[in-house]
Amino acid sequence: MAKSDTKEMQRLDKCVAHLTGLSRQGATKLIKEGAVTVAGVVITDAKTKVSLSMPLVIAGFSSDSEDTKEAQGERIVTAADAFKKRVYILNKPYGYVCSSRDKNHSVVSSLWRGELHPERLQAVGRLDVDTTGLLLVTDDGALNHELTSPKKNVAKLYVARLDRPVPESAVAAFVAGIKHPEESQRYQSAKLLILPENAAPATEQVLAPASSAASAASAAFAAVASSAEIASTESSPTYWAAVTVHEGRFHEVKRLFEVVGCEVLELVRVALGALTLPSTLSLGQMQLLSKEQWRQALESHDFTADEVVALITAYQYSLQSSAPMYLPPAWMQLVLGVGSTAAAAASADAAAASEADAEAEAAADSTEDSALQDSALTDIDEQDDLVDDDDDDDDAADAADTEVDFDELDEDGELRIY
Ligand code: URA
Repeated sequence: MAKSDTKEMQRLDKCVAHLTGLSRQGATKLIKEGAVTVAGVVITDAKTKVSLSMPLVIAGFSSDSEDTKEAQGERIVTAADAFKKRVYILNKPYGYVCSSRDKNHSVVSSLWRGELHPERLQAVGRLDVDTTGLLLVTDDGALNHELTSPKKNVAKLYVARLDRPVPESAVAAFVAGIKHPEESQRYQSAKLLILPENAAPATEQVLAPASSAASAASAAFAAVASSAEIASTESSPTYWAAVTVHEGRFHEVKRLFEVVGCEVLELVRVALGALTLPSTLSLGQMQLLSKEQWRQALESHDFTADEVVALITAYQYSLQSSAPMYLPPAWMQLVLGVGSTAAAAASADAAAASEADAEAEAAADSTEDSALQDSALTDIDEQDDLVDDDDDDDDAADAADTEVDFDELDEDGELRIY
């Protein structure tokens, strides 16, 4: 058999295990029972190698996935679907935590419960409970590791609304590396861009009053195309700054601004590398990215002030179509025109409790995104181990085959198809 044929062939039990989430033994049993049809033929030998382009039908197996045809509980897929890795972009809502469990808040993984094999998906890095914006979600452990690895130096662009103007001297201080008095390790160099006063309205000003919210946001969105400066809709000025960091330390952006005397009132991640948050993505929504799209996260881009203002305005625009439950409690009340002070206070208490828990967790976990991510990766690896329990020489052969060009090989020799 020609080499190019070999790399397009995979063992049936492996394909079925990946598609169903069953162990390799479970998949073998299913195949032996005659539940698997390959290109119209029932195959009962689990070791049979099948072409990745062949249609597979697994009896009794169905899913909610939209990209597959379903018929009477049977799902028609190709063997290649078994190895497809997914990368989504999510607009993280306010009030959601990126850890796997939380006593007081919803967890981000609840946002992808409806996807195929949701248990395999993990957030790439973490955002604070009150931070919104761009979060990648993937089932590709190797890519997750790459994006969070300090070696890759992926730039994270945040836009912060502050309680007061940022002193000009902060720009040089950020470049030099900020030393927080309560922390031993100096922060790595960060790029600070102080935006013009009232460069964008405060988000609550965009959202309120509810009746004119949509038109206010549309007007702001249109205005940004021609000018970086937008007059605030309210008399109180807004102070915005953009900061690019590479580290991903716990509360990093808030801590950096704290040292220069500013409090972060609103924090949105608007870009990872050159990948930006689309204005069409409402809070809580996620969208599958093509390889060309997610690869932008690994590219660098030096955002200008105009581009940053356009990004924050586009983000505010996306809030117009967001479900009120994803907005901060005070904004939720503005949009709905309802809500009690008691409810807001309870919500604030819950946020404080969760922050305390997160602080403890982060301290125990050496506070780094990458360290946190490592533990997430261990989970992924453990899941993969469950699937790939019966190692065979095919895996070794796959790993040795470096000529696969339509896909790549994972660290464990798994195919990665996007
Ligand atoms: N820095 C912060 O302070 N919070 C985040 O969520 C991300 C970076």
